[in-house]
Amino acid sequence: MENLREFITSLEGKGWLRHIDVEVDPSWEIGAICRENFNRGGPALVFSKINGFKTPLVVGVLGSVPSYALALGCGSNFPEIAKKWESAFARPIKAVEVNAKEAPCKEVKLKEVNLYADPFPVPRWHPLDAGPELGTFHGVITKDPETGWINMGTYRNQILDKDKVGCLSPPYKHIAYHIRKWASLGKKTMPVAIAVGLDPYLNMVAVSGVPAEVDEYDIAGGLKGAPIKVVKAETSDLLVPTNAEIILEGEMPIDEFWPEEGPFGEFHGYMGEIQRNSPFIKIHQITHRRSPYFQGTYEGRPPHESGIARGIGRSCVLYEHLRRSGCPGVKDVCVTVGGAAGLHAVVSIKKSFPGHARCVMALVWGYNVLFCKHVVVVDEDIDVWNPFMVEWAIATRVQASRDVTIVENAHTGVLDPSQVSSKRGWSDWLGIDATIPDEHYKRDNSTFPPFADPPEEIMGKVRQNWSKYGLE
Ligand SMILES: Cc1cc2nc3c(=O)[nH]c(=O)nc-3n(C[C@H](O)[C@H](O)[C@H](O)COP(=O)(O)O)c2cc1C
Repeated sequence: MENLREFITSLEGKGWLRHIDVEVDPSWEIGAICRENFNRGGPALVFSKINGFKTPLVVGVLGSVPSYALALGCGSNFPEIAKKWESAFARPIKAVEVNAKEAPCKEVKLKEVNLYADPFPVPRWHPLDAGPELGTFHGVITKDPETGWINMGTYRNQILDKDKVGCLSPPYKHIAYHIRKWASLGKKTMPVAIAVGLDPYLNMVAVSGVPAEVDEYDIAGGLKGAPIKVVKAETSDLLVPTNAEIILEGEMPIDEFWPEEGPFGEFHGYMGEIQRNSPFIKIHQITHRRSPYFQGTYEGRPPHESGIARGIGRSCVLYEHLRRSGCPGVKDVCVTVGGAAGLHAVVSIKKSFPGHARCVMALVWGYNVLFCKHVVVVDEDIDVWNPFMVEWAIATRVQASRDVTIVENAHTGVLDPSQVSSKRGWSDWLGIDATIPDEHYKRDNSTFPPFADPPEEIMGKVRQNWSKYGLE
């Protein structure tokens, strides 16, 4: 799939996308419709008639596992999706640069930048948001001035002024690595581009915490199975996705900050707090495709598109991190959607040595962009994607004083509402070793009890005879 439009068509073909043709209000109604639609497990939505705007808004294209799998061209199950990510990491595909004349994202150049008057329907997603958020399911593109590493991440962009947007950039995130790099070279500003209306692969990588020093474009190419096409920006040498619907180009001042950014209804379901002295971007130029789509997403209490996209992508990225670490026996990883797709991870292992589960916990905690503060490690017989099975493992294999590890005052995301304001960014880590405690049984000169299930050969026979029992 080359672009958002093709993805919309594919989703329509499956009946997984609906157009809302009645007039809706961007300041209060769109967010509430999205909330209800995600609660109902509904389709992706195109709002075609937004009060005051001609440009349609697309929400929820990656809002379900089947849609995610459709984009990847694989079966709608986690093993097949994980294989796609695994192969993207093993065989990333470099982006190719095309000529500006071939770049749809440059078809129209706005004469002036006035975010209060531009044609894009930027909703106020939640009633308590500080203002309209222009960037919610998009990519903020920056470059390491020394190595050329290009980063694309979804960093929210609240409209702050007619030519300025916020950009929440916590110090452990890759954009902040770049800010520090530009600062260390004595630069006063960092070039930034914002791409809105992306092909699904760019959406996937931009929210998934792809490792530092790895270009998201290349992993997106690997997921797509073909290079992402990029083109030189007009006002800097950044490369931007040719097929994006809208490109905003600008600069982030290095030593200047906006006094207040946010609050915004956050991915975990609560309102965030005001971010004081927050980085911002001055927009110098806006280009877009003819008749563009605007794309965004509703955050808040899971379930939602952000949770699905982050949960799946981060599970795959974390798996890759554990695999690369050389830690043996890691079988599967789930960054749970219920855990706000960032705060909880479940990892299954083939346990090989005493303390193996704790090694895994330490590696998960150490992957700082994802800040999974709660980690449950289970044996390979437990499906990490099945909360029922994970709970069963915790209930039947864990003794708290023996199997629970707490590390106090460690790192987490700055938005975690469980921590009081003065300690934002600091959190206790909790690890639960829910693997069978065979090493402890051994020390006790005994063995963990066998499963109570009937033996497999008897189960096989019973399954064969199932219809004979009149049960089919
Ligand atoms: C809708 C949405 C909004 C997000 N907003 C922010 C944000 O403002 N700041 C931030 O650090 N991460 C935000 N994230 C999470 C980042 O997209 C994610 O951590 C990503 O991996 C960052 O890119 P990077 O890995 O290249 O640093 C958001 C994610 C979503 C889905």
